[in-house]
Amino acid sequence: MSVAVRFSVKELKEYEPGKSVKGAVKLSSNENPLGPSPKALRAVLESVSGEEGELNLSVYPAERDEDELRDEILKYLSGSVRKENVVLGAGVDGVLETLAKIFIEPGDEAVIPVPTFSLYESVVKIAGGVPRFVERERERERGSDFSVPVEDLISACSEKTRLIFLASPNNPTGNCTPEQEVREILDAVPPTAVVVLDEAYAEFAGEEAGAAAGVEAGSSLLGLVKEHENAVVLRTFSKAFGLAGLRVGYGVVPEWLASPYKKVAMPFSVNCLALKAAVAALHDTEHLRKTVALVREERAFLTENLQRLEGFRVFPSQANFVLLDVSPRKSAEVCELLLKNGVVVRDCSSFRAAGDSLVRISVGTREQNEKVVEVLREGKKNES
Ligand SMILES: Cc1ncc(COP(=O)(O)O)c(C=O)c1O
Repeated sequence: MSVAVRFSVKELKEYEPGKSVKGAVKLSSNENPLGPSPKALRAVLESVSGEEGELNLSVYPAERDEDELRDEILKYLSGSVRKENVVLGAGVDGVLETLAKIFIEPGDEAVIPVPTFSLYESVVKIAGGVPRFVERERERERGSDFSVPVEDLISACSEKTRLIFLASPNNPTGNCTPEQEVREILDAVPPTAVVVLDEAYAEFAGEEAGAAAGVEAGSSLLGLVKEHENAVVLRTFSKAFGLAGLRVGYGVVPEWLASPYKKVAMPFSVNCLALKAAVAALHDTEHLRKTVALVREERAFLTENLQRLEGFRVFPSQANFVLLDVSPRKSAEVCELLLKNGVVVRDCSSFRAAGDSLVRISVGTREQNEKVVEVLREGKKNES
């Protein structure tokens, strides 16, 4: 074929999603163990069926439906931002793609602390940019494992830096970056660089499984958007709201960014069913509360029980998954053992700088989590 595919595209690795295997328990993509809110499901079904159905799938999504979702997001975030600050996308993925298109000219740079969500690297490269990787710290004296090395990150910035990506909680490591450190970063990086704070898992951050969990929109760095002209916060309906299949997420951006965002984002990138479902999901605070309480409780269960298995190291997580270091064994071996026993988890060796001994396990229901623990316990027994 003589048509030239761009060099940066040829060089790109395909995105590797968490595996799905028919009949197996899927704990590989950090989805919601309770599924979507029944109210969100009903909203989707009713909007396209029966006499009440108000959606006509032959027309493009209506602006008023986008507006309605942005209004509901404002309420959910307790009015801490204004409507002009909220932009929508086909998941956080869609928002990331738009941000890269807005900011990256060929040769521009983006700083990415790794290991982390691999799409940051992809969107930068697709736009012709150059990612600069900074390794997260293992076992540092102060703070947690996989902390962001703030000084290294700042030193990695140059006058070419346009974007800095920081997931908090981070995937696959599960740790948050303390607000103070994010402030240090925001204050020190060049004013020409935007700091993207990806809070896809924010609702799960915190420890207690109690009644207040979740309804206050999770632990958050949202306040920083008001204070800093170069901060952006990203959120999603894929995790705590259980709507990964519908692809809807949003960004809270400074006001100057809303207009470039509208120009660059693909029109109608959030489909009409996703808009309806997201609004209904935001109304169902009870489902959100249940999800967050379950994840926090089961995360503690999984962490404690995996820690008891000699030889495994479990990292404290603020997200809806836990990270396990299985060295000296290889992650591939352990994933294979789980798969043979009907559980799919994520081998993290495809994450840049993660090495070959990290396994990420999404928090499931008690029954699913017990199965994980049991398989690994038996696997250990058979080894010794
Ligand atoms: C840190 C992080 N950001 C974003 C996403 C993708 O979110 P969405 O489904 O909203 O595109 C993921 C998915 O795994 C993630 O781990």
